[in-house]
Amino acid sequence: MAMQDVENAGNVKRQLAKLFETSLRLTVPDEQDIEPLVAACAGNFGDYQCNNAMSTWAKIKGKGTQYRGPPAVGQAIMSNLPQSDMIESCSVAGPGFVNVILSSSWIAKSIQSMLVHGIETWAPKLSVSKAVVDFSSPNIAKEMHVGHLRSTIIGDTLANMLEFSNVEVLRRNHVGDWGTQFGMLIEFLFEENPNWDQEEAAAIGDLQAFYKKSKLRFDSDPDFKFRAQKAVVKLQSGEAKYRQAWQQICETSRREFDGVYQRLKVKLEEKGESFYNPYIPQVMEELSHLGLIEESENAKVIHLEGFNIPLIVVKSDGGYNYASTDLTAIWYRLNVEKAEWMVYVTDVGQQQHFDMVFSAARRAGWLPADSSLYPKVSHVGFGLVLGEDGKRFRTRSSEVVRLVDLLDEAKNRSKAALVERGKAAEWTEEELDQTAEAIGYGAVKYADLKNNRLTNYVFNFDQMLSDKGNTAVYLLYAHARIASIIRKSGKDIEELKRTGSLALNHPDERALGLHLLHFAEIVEEACTNLLPNVLCEFLYNVSENFTKFYSNCQVVGSDDETSRLLLCEATAVVMRKCFSLLGITPVYKI
Ligand code: ARG
Repeated sequence: MAMQDVENAGNVKRQLAKLFETSLRLTVPDEQDIEPLVAACAGNFGDYQCNNAMSTWAKIKGKGTQYRGPPAVGQAIMSNLPQSDMIESCSVAGPGFVNVILSSSWIAKSIQSMLVHGIETWAPKLSVSKAVVDFSSPNIAKEMHVGHLRSTIIGDTLANMLEFSNVEVLRRNHVGDWGTQFGMLIEFLFEENPNWDQEEAAAIGDLQAFYKKSKLRFDSDPDFKFRAQKAVVKLQSGEAKYRQAWQQICETSRREFDGVYQRLKVKLEEKGESFYNPYIPQVMEELSHLGLIEESENAKVIHLEGFNIPLIVVKSDGGYNYASTDLTAIWYRLNVEKAEWMVYVTDVGQQQHFDMVFSAARRAGWLPADSSLYPKVSHVGFGLVLGEDGKRFRTRSSEVVRLVDLLDEAKNRSKAALVERGKAAEWTEEELDQTAEAIGYGAVKYADLKNNRLTNYVFNFDQMLSDKGNTAVYLLYAHARIASIIRKSGKDIEELKRTGSLALNHPDERALGLHLLHFAEIVEEACTNLLPNVLCEFLYNVSENFTKFYSNCQVVGSDDETSRLLLCEATAVVMRKCFSLLGITPVYKI
C-alpha cells in the first residue's frame, strides 16, 4: 500500500477521492485546483458517486474544450480513473454523475483487515493535534441540572470522538467557582457553623438548601448583605480565612459533581473560572494596548462590529465577569496550552456571549480572521430539555430536576424491566445492577445524543426505555444478540479471524458490509461538524442492516458459517466502538 492508502485505510470516501483527483487532473489538465466531490449514495446505481462533471463543465465551457457538455465530462472522468481493486464497475448517469460500485471482495478484505488489525485502523485523520473541549461546567453551590447533563453527555462524546481520531483532548470543566455569590455563602457558613474550619467539607450538608437559606438571609437582612459584600472583597484580595471557607464550599460541590461523573463514566479535568483570575489583568492590559478597550459609564467595554451591545470586560465596580474570564481562558488555551481547536458545549442561550468573545479574540489577532482556519473556536449549542407538557423540564413542584434523581429513576426502571423478564433468577445481583445501569444510563444518554443537538427534546422515560424503535435499549439488545450468536456457535472467533475468510455473496451480507465500511467517514463527519447524532443514526442503521441480514441469511450451521460469523463479529466490533464513543456501556447478555 502506498503511504496515502495507509493513512486513509477504512475511509472509502477519501480513497475514492484520491482516484478521482488523479482522473480530474487527466480530464482537465488546465484546471489544477478542482477538488474531487465524492459522496456515498443511497440509490441503486452505485455505492458512491463523483459529482464533479457539472461544476467542471461550468469552468471549462467557452474555453475551447473538447467536451460537449457535462455528460461527456462525466464519461471522461470515468475513463480516466486509474485501475483499482476497490472498484467493481462504474457508470455515468444523468448530467455526468459517475456512479461507482465497489468490489465486494475488496469490501470483504477491508473488513477482515479491520478485524485483524483493530478498529483503530479506521480512525479518522484530522488536521489538528490538540483540542480543548470545554463542557459540563456546572456552577458551585448550585445543583447540576438537565442543561448540564446535556453539556456533559454531548461534550463527552465529542471528546471521545476526537480522542479516537488521535487528537489530544483537554477535557475542561470550566466550573463557575468565582463570583459575588461566594460572599453570601461564606458569611452564611460563618454564621451557621462557627466550627466550620474544624470539620470536613461535608459539614455543609445539602448545598442546595444551604444556598437557598443564605439567599433568603441575604435578601431579608441588610446587615447580612453588607457583611456578604465585604466578604467578597476579602475573598478576592486573598484573605486566608475567606479563601479557606471558599475552598470548603467548592469541595462540597465538587464531591456532588464527581458522583454524577462517576456514574456517567465521564472524565473531566477541572479548571474553573477562578483558575484564570490571576491572568486577567495582564490579558486586559494586552487588549488595552491593542486599543480594543474603551471606557463606558465607568465600565470597560469592547465594541464589536455586528453587535448592538458592547462586550463588558470590567464592571463599573472594577470587578471582572464571565466575559473577562472567557477571554482570558482563550488566551491561556492558545498560549500556554497550545490548543488548536477550542470547543465550547453550552445551551444555545449562550450563543451571543461566545460570538462576542470569539469576535473580540479575532480583533485582538489571537485567532485568524477566517473562522474556518486554525486555531479555531466552535460553540456547540444545544436546545432545551422539555417535559411532557412541552415546557421546560421541571419537577411537579416546579423545581429544577436533580440529575441524580433522574439517573436513579432510569436505573430503577430498567432494573424493574429486567426483573419482569425473569433475570433476577438467572443473574447475580451484581450482573443485574450493572446491566440496569448500562441500559438506564445508556438510554438517557442516547435519547439526548440522537437528536440534532440544536433542537429541544422531550424527556420521556417510557420512550427512551422502550426496546422498540431508535433507542439505546433496542441497540444494546441487538448487540447482545450478536454476541450470543457468536457464543452459541461454539467457535473461537479469534481463531476464525486469523484462519477464516470473509465473503459477501448474499445482497444482505454485502449491504451490511458496505454500511460498516462507512464508519470512518461517519466519525470524521461527526467530529468535523460536532454532531453526535450523525453517529447515532449510523449506529441505528447498522442494527437495521444486521436484522435484515440475520433474517435472510442463516449463520450457525450454514455452509457460509465462518464467513457469516466474521461478519457478525465485525458488526459487533463496530457497534461497540460506537457505544464507547457515545459513552454507553455495551451489554453481552440479555
Ligand atoms: N458555568 C456555565 C453555566 O453553567 C457554563 C460555562 C461554559 N464554559 C465557558 N467557558 N463559559 O452556564
